[in-house]
Amino acid sequence: DAPITVAIDGPSGSGKSSVSKAVARTLGVAYLDTGAMYRALAWWALDRGLDLTDQAAVARAAHDLPLEIGTDPDDVTVRVDGTDVTEAIRQTRISSQVSAVATNLDVRAELRRRQRELIEQARHDHGGVVAEGRDITTVVAPDAEHRILVTASEEARLARRSTELHGGAGAELLAATRDQIVRRDRDDSTVSAFFVPADGVVGIDTSELSFEESVQAVLDVVQAGG
Ligand code: C5P
Repeated sequence: DAPITVAIDGPSGSGKSSVSKAVARTLGVAYLDTGAMYRALAWWALDRGLDLTDQAAVARAAHDLPLEIGTDPDDVTVRVDGTDVTEAIRQTRISSQVSAVATNLDVRAELRRRQRELIEQARHDHGGVVAEGRDITTVVAPDAEHRILVTASEEARLARRSTELHGGAGAELLAATRDQIVRRDRDDSTVSAFFVPADGVVGIDTSELSFEESVQAVLDVVQAGG
């Protein structure tokens, strides 16, 4: 079979990560979490005491970043300089500061170059890849065989993230989550458009869909050649 790339973008809380992983598993291809790469860079820059607003210093760190990222949907271990940071890069401390590195255009150029390499390698070694992020359908892999934007209403995204982060979706937890994700999406939107599907990109609104239904909706698009 010819290799396939399934490019999936979407905002935080859209469910795209867990859905993308499940789709990769079902299709028997690799999985690339590009957000984890930006998070790993933020982690490393902070670990080295860099000021994340120092554009030149962070761009140099991106070039030097000793990153290893697992692309097996069942082993997505992320290592920086040999240290396993898989859990650490999910901390609120990182989520709240990652946009500062992701809006650095030199950083984006360097990580994009690495992402394209990883995609090429996965196509060669594993018959394809489900690559997810904010700019995969538009910038990293605009020629992907399949391009999908996974969205959900702000309400649905907040409820999912709140449950994921805080184990519940009560009023107070929702408010705390809203501050975090609304600000991050707003900052991220200054460099990538991931709320509206670009030309030729299929939009899937998962607001009313269960996890299984969301996975099936993506598989249906892939099957139909979208
Ligand atoms: O997907 P996730 O929430 O883990 O992404 C973390 C951050 O990485 C995003 O908030 C965004 O700043 C950045 N990102 C990006 N482009 C991508 C994927 C992630 O700018 N393709």
